[in-house]
Amino acid sequence: MKTSVTYLGLPLSSPLIAGASPLGQELDTLKRLEDSGAAAVVLPSLFEEEIKQRQRETITSLDEAPAFEESQSFFTEPPMLSYGPDAYLEHVRKVKEALGIPVIASLNGTSNDSWVNYARQIEEAGADALELNLNIFAANPHETSTSIEQRLISIIRHIRSGCGLPLAVKISPQFTALANLASQMEAVGARGLVMFNRFFQPEIDIENLSIQRKLKLSTSAELPPRLAWLSVMSGTGTGLSLSVSGGVHTGEDVIRSIMSGADTVQLVSALIKKGPEYIGFLKAGLTRWMEEHEYASIDAMRGSMNLARCPDPSAYLRVNYMNMLHSWKYDPSAQDAEA
Ligand SMILES: Cc1cc2nc3c(=O)[nH]c(=O)nc-3n(C[C@H](O)[C@H](O)[C@H](O)COP(=O)(O)O)c2cc1C
Repeated sequence: MKTSVTYLGLPLSSPLIAGASPLGQELDTLKRLEDSGAAAVVLPSLFEEEIKQRQRETITSLDEAPAFEESQSFFTEPPMLSYGPDAYLEHVRKVKEALGIPVIASLNGTSNDSWVNYARQIEEAGADALELNLNIFAANPHETSTSIEQRLISIIRHIRSGCGLPLAVKISPQFTALANLASQMEAVGARGLVMFNRFFQPEIDIENLSIQRKLKLSTSAELPPRLAWLSVMSGTGTGLSLSVSGGVHTGEDVIRSIMSGADTVQLVSALIKKGPEYIGFLKAGLTRWMEEHEYASIDAMRGSMNLARCPDPSAYLRVNYMNMLHSWKYDPSAQDAEA
């Protein structure tokens, strides 16, 4: 029984990866993840803003739209940057020395400027692959979806031309023609797609008229839309490696992700809540489940429920949505008594 997979061309012992987060900041935690069976780790991102801050030497405020909404909530005001580029490169070197598993660095930005040249330095620091978090928040009414997509593609092309590392692109689900965009990414040299970024969910304090910047960890409830997109993408026969990020917490979540077509499964909230060793628990559960259900390998399971191979593809499609709505019966007795 084989749990091994290939992701971005890298051989991994299992699909279970620790995703980008502060879990990747301390060598001790990274060692615990490796010892517990993490097949690879994604380091926290080096942000375009951090690189530009270094390039400008001094900065008093972030003057651009935040690149990664979620983690902006860690920045107090005025912005406090977690890494400088030099410290990041040093961290990559140290992590590579300390760990035997593949180390995936992460760059996070939205413009096609000089910051992308850091990809080469990350390669020189020894990373095995690079995850690009290109989370563009499309709030500018003068920028079209086409120009946003072109910007993404040109960032990937730019990075590809200066860096030989396998590239995974982590994007938000808010694209009209995701399958088409993914094929454009593949055409300019991306090797993988990470689905998806979590959208920062600001909470309005209605008494103080302020925005709460508290980061909420995910729950399994966030997984189903990702599974639907994995099923679509994996059903297109894309050559991209597919990785799911967002809402993977239980053994069932892992199995559903693989059946929907994920090559790897990234975990963050679950590991923050339960500790690095939880990845070992999930791996043991996956192995046990595969034995019980007589799956010889992850390959045999992957994509078995995707749009191209599942027994009832209409379940993923518009016709099912229509039938579901039409078959819904209003039941007054089920009303919430407290409402
Ligand atoms: C505290 C924290 C820090 C994060 N930092 C990063 C980051 O630096 N770069 C990045 O691409 N994603 C970052 N993320 C997002 C995670 O990698 C992941 O995409 C998201 O949490 C969804 O996965 P989950 O449901 O397993 O938590 C962070 C998430 C958390 C909770």
